[in-house]
Amino acid sequence: MKQYGVFDDVHREYVITDPKTPVKWINYIGGLAFGGFVDQTGGALICKGDPAFNRITRYLAQMPNADFKGETLYLRIHKENGYQVFSPFFVPTLDPYDRYECHVGLGFTRIVSEFYGIRSEVTIFVPDGDGVEIRDIRITNLSQTALQIDVVPVVEYSHPDALKQLTNADWVPQTMVSRKVDLGEGRIGLLHYPFMNRDIQVNLFTANCPVASFETDRKLFLGDNEYQGWARPVSLQTTNLGNNETLRGDNIAALLCPLGTLQPGEERRVITQLRQGISLEAMLPAVLRYFQPPEVDQEFSRLVKFWDSYLEKMQVKSPDPDFDRMINIHNPRQCFITFNWSRYLSLYQLGYGARGIGFRDSSQDVLSVLSNAPQEAKQLIGKLLQVQRRNGSAMHQFNPLTLVASEGDSVEREDLPHYYCDDHLWIVLAVVAYLKETGDIAFLDEMIPFYEKDKAGNPLEIDTVLEHLDRAMHFTWQDIGKHGLPLLGFADWNDTVNLRLGAESLFSANLFGRALREMTDLMRAQEDFDCLQHYETLYAEMKERVNRAAWDGEWYVGYFDCDGTPLGSRDNRYGKIQANAQSWPVLSGFATPERAQMALDAVEKYLNTDFGIKLSMPGFNGFDRAYGGVTTYPPGAKENGGIFLHANPWVIIAETMVGHGERAYKYYRQINPASRNQMIDRYECEPYVYPQNILGNEHPQFGLARNSWLSGTASWMYQAGTQYILGIRPAFQGLTIDPCIPPAWDGFQVARVFRGSTYQITVKNPQHVSKGVVRLVVDGKDQPGNQAPLFTDGQTHRVEVFLGEPRLNTNF
Ligand code: GLC
Repeated sequence: MKQYGVFDDVHREYVITDPKTPVKWINYIGGLAFGGFVDQTGGALICKGDPAFNRITRYLAQMPNADFKGETLYLRIHKENGYQVFSPFFVPTLDPYDRYECHVGLGFTRIVSEFYGIRSEVTIFVPDGDGVEIRDIRITNLSQTALQIDVVPVVEYSHPDALKQLTNADWVPQTMVSRKVDLGEGRIGLLHYPFMNRDIQVNLFTANCPVASFETDRKLFLGDNEYQGWARPVSLQTTNLGNNETLRGDNIAALLCPLGTLQPGEERRVITQLRQGISLEAMLPAVLRYFQPPEVDQEFSRLVKFWDSYLEKMQVKSPDPDFDRMINIHNPRQCFITFNWSRYLSLYQLGYGARGIGFRDSSQDVLSVLSNAPQEAKQLIGKLLQVQRRNGSAMHQFNPLTLVASEGDSVEREDLPHYYCDDHLWIVLAVVAYLKETGDIAFLDEMIPFYEKDKAGNPLEIDTVLEHLDRAMHFTWQDIGKHGLPLLGFADWNDTVNLRLGAESLFSANLFGRALREMTDLMRAQEDFDCLQHYETLYAEMKERVNRAAWDGEWYVGYFDCDGTPLGSRDNRYGKIQANAQSWPVLSGFATPERAQMALDAVEKYLNTDFGIKLSMPGFNGFDRAYGGVTTYPPGAKENGGIFLHANPWVIIAETMVGHGERAYKYYRQINPASRNQMIDRYECEPYVYPQNILGNEHPQFGLARNSWLSGTASWMYQAGTQYILGIRPAFQGLTIDPCIPPAWDGFQVARVFRGSTYQITVKNPQHVSKGVVRLVVDGKDQPGNQAPLFTDGQTHRVEVFLGEPRLNTNF
């Protein structure tokens, strides 16, 4: 089978060696404040603040892979009678290459290629915390003869309002303006803006070298009324570009930079900047700074250092290199990207309209960045709590910049409630996990407004974080149906199961149980025994209801419709068994040991495939309004019997909780994209990140992945790998070490930074068991239990852990 690249663990990169990947493969640079993604052929979608309302480059994800998208670079070699023009990024000229490498790095992409005796190395990045896209271009003459070379970097602009760009092809081009400015020493800048933004927000494209000529009008750059396309721009066959400052049309920025003659072996460097500011004057100091190569080098090493320190919080060495490269590099990177971008912008989430970010999505994203970026996590948690309603439930989506929230897709159905029964419960998990990781208990007393406002826009009520959590618990406790189980509202975590008013959700019941366990941990740590007892009572009661109503004989059911009919039961024709309905009773601790075992066995028997665990089966076969969104997909796709990856780690976690190390690991490995590298043609997506979904075996294209990067899968796979397979879990009083590994493993090593100290953990498995800590030695001294104590000295501590029989009873 074909392979498109290799993992380079030493440099912490994936290196794409064939640019013709099955679908575009991308990397992220910068963040939501300024940045976007770059594909494997240098195309880039760049925005500032909000991809819907401040888009800079025009990248149309649905266009064929060979098309120009947003940005490119042309090189031209002067020949006796004309020019040889090609792109070192392969796209859009598609010239044959001698070497092609797209290095997918941490926060940068570097394309190294060789065409016609010229080596190009282009590093694309956004300096940490800065609003500029840098393209650091190095050109080397590898041939035996002197070559006269020009470089021509090009950007195509979008109207800032991304949807307008697509919906109005008169107003948009009538307003798009470009202007040239001199920046000294032969350098120029090209300013671009829609007319209305002239005095408040302008884009700038510039390079740190003398420019012979430029073009800002796409039609004139491409020539021949655009019939040669981006592959053969006519203007590049003339000595100079047209120097047009376009007043309307499709605006681009193309700079013709003559490098002069390069002797054999000689290298030249050009650095371009794409940025946005309120005016040229405001941007100028930063522009001049980045004209200096040492400043760019310094920013690049700052970026490298950021990722060094980000990743060093948790590093593992296990017997499985695919596991290690995901846990050490690619998975935490994806977690940070997902945390930062939520579901705003990818090849699949196109960032049009005013979607904002999801309450439940972000609450779960937070869970995987706590040790690496606690301050950013706390900030996002603070915002989430501000869109919680006074009754404890939460708004479904919100704009993180304005904090204006909405009820999401639920408003499309007038006959159904406009809240989701799970949203508010996730924030309980996020807050308690944050406290366990950081020990920042004072956060509980911080005052945060609820969402409702008076006419003047002032919050109607402000209360402590702890009160917010308690209201979340209370909302679910009182919002119940016939079986005493939480009402579904519009949907639970599964957005697409939209049952009639009055339906109940077992998912929500179990998430409530899990949240209650977090709250009881917290109350115990706070020594608030009244509250502890209160939550324990709720827990016991909900556990009883779940077990009374939802056991179906071989597995748990997923829902009850308003008339009491179950969904996820052997009596159903479609959706007979649901993965979440089995994993979550284990995660909540509601399942009895016997039922947990049976439920998880049923998952393996009915839902597992070589490409991952299906969300449910069999798939519905036709639209049915009584079930809603799930029936809009053909059987085997997405939530309708597809392998919805986000739900896989929940099964993995459940398996570790019952001690099935072998099975947990099998499930982990079968969806580890790094393990797919050799057979990617069927799977198609990037082998260095998790996708959201893979087509299930009811679908003819079983095994095809889609919606990579921005998925809750990232967060939960990271938690499953680090906290449950490796078993390293922050707790209020220390670091719990409770691995559940394949018995074949001799052990593993982990370096984990926790509350400022480093735990050098060595786990040994001489008896080849899956689970059970029989001995714990911290700094040479034996300790009872399986929790390494808290240290406040900021030092490194040695922790040795021995697994074996008999099992230690480890509770959650
Ligand atoms: C998507 C949504 C997420 C939802 C999931 C299952 O990933 O972003 O919020 O839980 O689909 O429907």
